Amino acid sequence: MNAHALVVGASSGIGLAVARRLRHDGFQVSGLARRAAPVDAAHRSFGCDLSDPAGGGVEEAIAAAVAALGEPEVLCYCAGHAALGATLAVPTEAARRSFEINFWGLDRCVRAVLPRMSARRKGSIVAVLSLAALRAIPHETYYAAAKAAADRYLGCLAHEAARDNVSIKTVYPGYVPTGFFERAGWHGMERPAVSGSGVSPEDVAKAVARLVEGAASRAVVGWRERAIVLGDRLLPGAYDRLLKRRSR
Ligand SMILES: NC(=O)c1ccc[n+]([C@@H]2O[C@H](COP(=O)([O-])OP(=O)(O)OC[C@H]3O[C@@H](n4cnc5c(N)ncnc54)[C@H](OP(=O)(O)O)[C@@H]3O)[C@@H](O)[C@H]2O)c1
Repeated sequence: MNAHALVVGASSGIGLAVARRLRHDGFQVSGLARRAAPVDAAHRSFGCDLSDPAGGGVEEAIAAAVAALGEPEVLCYCAGHAALGATLAVPTEAARRSFEINFWGLDRCVRAVLPRMSARRKGSIVAVLSLAALRAIPHETYYAAAKAAADRYLGCLAHEAARDNVSIKTVYPGYVPTGFFERAGWHGMERPAVSGSGVSPEDVAKAVARLVEGAASRAVVGWRERAIVLGDRLLPGAYDRLLKRRSR
């Protein structure tokens, strides 16, 4: 039986592309989301709601996926939702929901899967984060804070997981035209126009697949995003000054 890859947030966008890519690479794939996957998707869908602090059926969905396809060798967390806009106009409830999905949902899945991987001394956990985890982006305050929290959480966890031969990996895309930005809750302002075409969900999926196969532990996706991260390292504050000048 081929190895099992469990993709959280596999019903659309990046998660669906990751599920297809891992299937193409020989994994048996299970997908978690509220919606079932489209009919052409080559994976088994299991329903749950990651925004529910009471559990949302996440543990049950993972247990059902394990019963169907065996112990997971890969967990890829792609689920996400963003509360965006003018910071003080974002209702606390919407900000909390963003943390539930982007941070606590990840923690819930890790808690369900990591002990299984540790017991077998085998596995990779990959999380699709965001450029917003690495730098401050205007009007993404709560989303960026949740992604940055997830980044630090995984960085800490990686030290413990390594002792059990489980690797923790992170992916940082910029804009990906999946409808995510449009589906986000926009508060206190109109949704701004996106500049540039971004990278495709398939490009992000390729980066995920490379991390699953290789030794690297992180990938920034997109030349523009890599340039921004490099610029932040070499000329700290320069890109922020440019953003501030543009917003005047
Ligand atoms: N698109 C971008 O520009 C971009 C850029 C950087 C990072 N990212 C990150 O990439 C990841 C995937 O985003 P995407 O662009 O592929 O967006 P997407 O098409 O909206 O996909 C989001 C996925 O998360 C699932 N999800 C959302 N809320 C959920 C909930 N309450 N319970 C269970 N599943 C839930 C959705 O499934 P259901 O709706 O069926 O539940 C869907 O499968 C996210 O973590 C996002 O933060 C996206």
